[in-house]
Amino acid sequence: MAERIRIEHELSTGARPEGATTEQAAAINVRKMFDSIAPRYDLLNHLLSMGLDRWWWNRTARSLRAVLERPEASVLDLCCGTGDMTLALMQYRPTSAGEAPVFAVDFSPEMLARGKEKFAGHNIVAIEADALHLPLENDSLDLITSAFGFRNLANYDEGLAELYRVLRSGGQIGILDCNQPEGIVGSLYNLYFKSVLPRVGGFISGDANAYRYLPASVERFPRPPRMLEMIRAAGFRDAHWTGYTFGTAGLYRATKP
Ligand SMILES: C[S@@+](CC[C@H](N)C(=O)[O-])C[C@H]1O[C@@H](n2cnc3c(N)ncnc32)[C@H](O)[C@@H]1O
Repeated sequence: MAERIRIEHELSTGARPEGATTEQAAAINVRKMFDSIAPRYDLLNHLLSMGLDRWWWNRTARSLRAVLERPEASVLDLCCGTGDMTLALMQYRPTSAGEAPVFAVDFSPEMLARGKEKFAGHNIVAIEADALHLPLENDSLDLITSAFGFRNLANYDEGLAELYRVLRSGGQIGILDCNQPEGIVGSLYNLYFKSVLPRVGGFISGDANAYRYLPASVERFPRPPRMLEMIRAAGFRDAHWTGYTFGTAGLYRATKP
């Protein structure tokens, strides 16, 4: 049994917060962590990203505008958290009567509650659900975005398979997430991410563990060449990555054939 857990821990690619040796434990741990930091999440996000978060959300939404502008397009913002990526998408949704709603999914009730407050007056349907078990039909969506959420899934291959399942043929994914850059930028990034960020984040949120998990999860997240391989292996085509801000973040895009 111990051996099986050790093998699962080492072989499966997915988030593993400290102490979580199984996928189930990892998911529970991640959900509790986001519930705990939800009251301070927005403040810390803007502060620790030095305001870049907003720019990254907007840039992602702008690059997906061709789908967003279609009134009938079914759109899902996965791991929506407190909803800022979802709202960035709404800038490009037509406001004519009859346009399809945007779905916003997250499994942390505390994060989603804050998102729901921001969604008032917008055509957004918030759903509390796990990204690995979406309560959505096969072949039903035209676009799935996820900002800084995919990295937290307990199993990336299963996450990609689930996205593939619910997308229609021709549907697209846009996964925005952190990246650990190489070279001199990488060294500066490491210094900031591993020393400054956990201290400031831990102090303001009161959850030091959560802000130690953040750099650890980025380190564990596959680098772009590997992630693109995984996206292609899940069946997507035209997979590519665009680095943002010296490669400290970036957008994965791909299409279901
Ligand atoms: C770093 S936050 C990002 C929130 C938002 N997208 C943003 O850009 O600010 C990650 C979010 O992913 C959610 N999440 C992590 N794993 C999930 C899963 N398996 N299913 C659904 N939501 C998940 C967390 O609850 C959290 O709200």
